[in-house]
Amino acid sequence: MVLYFSATGNTKFIAEEIAARLGDEAMDLLERIKAGDYSEIRSEKPFVICAPAHVCEMPRFFAEFIDRVKLAGNENVYYVFTSGGYAGIAASLAKRQAKHKGMKYCGAAEFKMPRNYPVSRHYPLLSEEENKQRIKASYERIPAVVDRIGRGEKLKYRHIFLFELIITLPFNPVWTGKMHKTTPFYATDKCIGCGKCEKLCPVNRITMQEGHPKWEGICAHCMACLSGCPVEAIEYRDRTEGKYRYTFNKFGKEFRSK
Ligand SMILES: Cc1cc2nc3c(=O)[nH]c(=O)nc-3n(C[C@H](O)[C@H](O)[C@H](O)COP(=O)(O)O)c2cc1C
Repeated sequence: MVLYFSATGNTKFIAEEIAARLGDEAMDLLERIKAGDYSEIRSEKPFVICAPAHVCEMPRFFAEFIDRVKLAGNENVYYVFTSGGYAGIAASLAKRQAKHKGMKYCGAAEFKMPRNYPVSRHYPLLSEEENKQRIKASYERIPAVVDRIGRGEKLKYRHIFLFELIITLPFNPVWTGKMHKTTPFYATDKCIGCGKCEKLCPVNRITMQEGHPKWEGICAHCMACLSGCPVEAIEYRDRTEGKYRYTFNKFGKEFRSK
C-alpha cells in the first residue's frame, strides 16, 4: 500500500507511479489527515509512505498523522520523499518513526522535483525547462526504486550527518512557528468563492466566510491552497504577485504512464 500526501502534485505523481508499477494501491491521505481519522489501514504488501520535504523533514502534520495511524498487515515500511533538492533529515526521522511504530524500516528514496514555494524570496521557482528536466530525471529513476521494493530489498539513502540533525531539529519549530503564519494569505477580487482552498488545506486553517476564504493561525505553508486555486486568486503578502503557481500537472502530464 502506497500512502501519500501531496500539496502540489509532485508526491502524488511519484506515489501513483510506484503503486502502478508494484501492482499496488495508492491512497491519498488528505481526507484522513483533515478528519483526524487514525483508523486502521491494512496492507498485505509493504507500506510505502510518500511525502514532500518541508524544511528538511517530512511535514510535521504528516509525521504526526503517520505516528498515530494504525498500519496493519505487513510490517515492512519504505519511505519516499520528493524535494526541491534537499530532503535533509527526513530519512533519519522516518527510521525513528518506523521503529516507534514497531515496523521494519526498509530505507528511503528521495526524488528531486520542481520547487513549489513562490512565497520564498530565497528559494525561487524554477524555469519551465528546469521543471521538466527534474520531472523527467525522477520519472526515469522510478523503476530502479520499484525494483528494489518489489524484490524486498532495502532502499539505500545517503548518510545523514550529525550536524544536519543538530541544525534542523531545534531550528524547525522556530522556523515553522515564526515563518508559517497565515495572516499574509489573502484572496483577491478574482476569488469565485468555490471553497476548493478550504477542502485542500490539510491542517484545516481555512474557513469560508461570506463566500471568501479566511486563514487562521499557523499552517504548513504547503501551497495546496495557493497553487490549487482554480483562478489564481490567492496571494501571500506581496511575495507571490506576478509569479506562476507550480502544480505538477502544468509541467509533468506527459510523464504519467496511465
Ligand atoms: C513549506 C515548504 C518547505 C519546503 N522545504 C523544502 C526543503 O527543505 N528542501 C527541499 O529540497 N525542498 C523543500 N520544499 C520543496 C518541496 O519539497 C518539493 O517541491 C516537493 O516535491 C513538493 O511536493 P508536493 O507537490 O507533493 O507537495 C519545500 C516546499 C514547501 C512548500
